[in-house]
Amino acid sequence: MSLPNDTALVTGSGNGIGRAIALRLAREGYDIGVVDLDAAGAEATAEQVRALGRRACVARADVGRRDSARAAVAQVAEALGPVGVLVNNAGILRTAPFLEVSDEQWRSLMSVNLDGVFHFCQAVLPGMLARGAGCIVNMSSWTGKKGVPNHAGYSASKAAVIALTQSVAGELAGRGIRVNAVCPGIIVDTAMRDEAEALNARQGLPGVQARVGNTVPLRRAGLPDDVAGVVAFLVSADAAYMTGQALNITGGLWMN
Ligand SMILES: NC(=O)c1ccc[n+]([C@@H]2O[C@H](COP(=O)([O-])OP(=O)(O)OC[C@H]3O[C@@H](n4cnc5c(N)ncnc54)[C@H](O)[C@@H]3O)[C@@H](O)[C@H]2O)c1
Repeated sequence: MSLPNDTALVTGSGNGIGRAIALRLAREGYDIGVVDLDAAGAEATAEQVRALGRRACVARADVGRRDSARAAVAQVAEALGPVGVLVNNAGILRTAPFLEVSDEQWRSLMSVNLDGVFHFCQAVLPGMLARGAGCIVNMSSWTGKKGVPNHAGYSASKAAVIALTQSVAGELAGRGIRVNAVCPGIIVDTAMRDEAEALNARQGLPGVQARVGNTVPLRRAGLPDDVAGVVAFLVSADAAYMTGQALNITGGLWMN
């Protein structure tokens, strides 16, 4: 449902999982709109996309702001052509015991993780509907399917992403649009995971290797490329009969 040699816009692709998704989609033949708050990271991703022989455009944006999202989509479409694939990957992690969650922490989690998905979907969908084709992949988390301690805001935002995904998927399925979500587990080699590890260490909790050994049937942490491969599948013709799904990428850590 996306078109060959199309434009893919990946939010939060200046680092981590988003960068891996951008590079994988570039290898699949997409030109890439690199959207991030981190301008230097976004430029580095764009350079790597160009080294793969595809075009790239950097748009610095705060996904939590509607005006910023609209401007980024317009900038990418102007530079590369209409957006056929949107990957809503940008996200933040903030953890705290529930009674210590501040309004500011709660609002920032909802702003980036949930409002960001809402704003970018609303910004790209008119163009996709006009073309009668488009694919959206939203970044949730296994903690959006099972709330975990000290992650109330994060888990709630990621659960809401799944509900939003299903709602929009059902609404637009008859108009050439597919919308799916992915739910990664423990993914290392990202700044977010480094932050989580530092927090665990401060609280005397087991590190990632110990937790992987105890909880992940495939016995290893995930890598950004593990997520990127599933995203590439979801936007491909091989997934033409899939919409409204929330696929776990957890090494078996979560199976529902
Ligand atoms: N790493 C994991 O274990 C894990 C597990 C499950 C889900 N996820 C999800 O995967 C996504 C990517 O995570 P990651 O581990 O690569 O994190 P990361 O921190 O390495 O990268 C996140 C990117 O998003 C950008 N970003 C943050 N706030 C933004 C904003 N307001 N506007 C625009 N860009 C913004 C950052 O600058 C950064 O480039 C997130 O949605 C995260 O919740 C990660």
